[in-house]
Amino acid sequence: MSHLAIRHLSVENSQGLRLVDDISLTLQPGKILALVGQSGSGKSLTCGAALNTLPPGTRRVSGELAYDDKLIPIDDVAGKTFATILQNPRTAFNPLLSVKAHLHETLRAHGSRLKPHSPEVLQVLSDVGLNSPQQLLNRYPFQMSGGMLQRLMIALAILTNAPFLIADEPTTDLDLVLQRRILDQLKKLVKQHQLGMLLVTHDFSVVAYMADRVAVIDQGKVVEQGETDSLFRQPTHPVTQHLLAAHFALFNFRSDK
Ligand SMILES: Nc1ncnc2c1ncn2[C@@H]1O[C@H](COP(=O)(O)OP(=O)(O)O)[C@@H](O)[C@H]1O
Ligand SMILES: [Mg+2]
Repeated sequence: MSHLAIRHLSVENSQGLRLVDDISLTLQPGKILALVGQSGSGKSLTCGAALNTLPPGTRRVSGELAYDDKLIPIDDVAGKTFATILQNPRTAFNPLLSVKAHLHETLRAHGSRLKPHSPEVLQVLSDVGLNSPQQLLNRYPFQMSGGMLQRLMIALAILTNAPFLIADEPTTDLDLVLQRRILDQLKKLVKQHQLGMLLVTHDFSVVAYMADRVAVIDQGKVVEQGETDSLFRQPTHPVTQHLLAAHFALFNFRSDK
């Protein structure tokens, strides 16, 4: 079984302050690992460090990736080893390029012989719930809703054919109905293509719905890691207990009324 090990990732800011501290995670084909933690805990920087897309003012000071225990260079992984889905789809697309041009660019970059209007590509667009894909090709990002752009980002992720997927808060900006639909599509995608997925979220409902395993991050460190069921039933670290208590309090409040 092919697995991907993300090992000993550390990130510092320009003052040398640790923002991500020695994080190790393993992705398995067909499985979803959730990275969950409060806002500002270091989730996005962990993704950025693994994808070599850290923002200015931060740098990776340690870390390596290994595919089936063979080291792979981090500066070569984005789009090859990993497909990515980001939180805000609007910033992920070039406003001057049509859907067709975005598809063309992704297919070309991955050496695919397919064209944007190839039946296989149109099928992927309709698989993620984009209707009338042929007409969609001529649209520009500003002519599409956030939900449509998020689906397009998932379609592009599928077309990269990368074996692993990193999704950083992919549904945080969407309403609950759309969130559920996108999460269902992601689950289907993981099973169909046997992708290994890192799902970043601050939301324990999303964790419960999606994840096989969970890693809890706090102040740049993974404080607890385990199977989703056992982590929900028996959280051992105080941070996990605190986050879960906040999660359940929301439901209890509603059922008390
Ligand atoms: N470009 C940056 N320069 C300096 N510090 C940053 C930068 N981006 C994020 N940070 C800091 O790193 C910490 C973790 O950020 P981030 O990974 O974005 O958190 P999360 O995704 O969990 O909400 C935060 O305290 C944040 O202030
Ligand atoms: Mg983030």
